Amino acid sequence: MKNLLATQSEKETTAFGRKFAGELKGAVVFGLTGDLGTGKTQFVKGLAKGLGVKENITSPTFVLMRTYRLKGKIENFVHIDCYRISSSDELLNFGLKEYIEEGKSIIAIEWAEKIKDILCIDTVWINFWHGGRENERRLEFKNLTIFKK
Ligand SMILES: Nc1ncnc2c1ncn2[C@@H]1O[C@H](COP(=O)(O)OP(=O)(O)OP(=O)(O)O)[C@@H](O)[C@H]1O
Ligand SMILES: [Mg+2]
Repeated sequence: MKNLLATQSEKETTAFGRKFAGELKGAVVFGLTGDLGTGKTQFVKGLAKGLGVKENITSPTFVLMRTYRLKGKIENFVHIDCYRISSSDELLNFGLKEYIEEGKSIIAIEWAEKIKDILCIDTVWINFWHGGRENERRLEFKNLTIFKK
């Protein structure tokens, strides 16, 4: 898989997330970075759909974290939005550390750079930014090597 991707619509980003979910073999933490409105949540929506989440995904901006039960080997899909927090301490009571350590969840964290101190070295980072055209978004993946395990 390539490390760089450009999409030209919201739909394309969601569809990519959905397809990407199909490639996941086990637990993984995604650190999603990039400015407001660059498509992090759209990607997460697709990811969730691809993992079999039936609920409609909305950004957990105020509740910070939402957990969805999955059927199968991977037990949960966890969606976190760190936009409103300033340090990882604010997530201590949410059990994130346990979710990461148990290794039974796919975890997608928006604004993850804010809690970098508690994320493992095998976190898969995806940076989003606005492309040159109106609805163009660019995605850059770091650490995809974990998929080769
Ligand atoms: N190629 C594209 N991919 C994703 N979203 C796009 C694209 N083109 C336009 N959009 C629009 O950009 C916005 C992306 O919003 P989204 O909530 O996914 O951003 P975000 O990165 O999660 O922002 P925030 O930091 O506020 O959480 C949506 O309004 C979507 O319709
Ligand atoms: Mg978002």
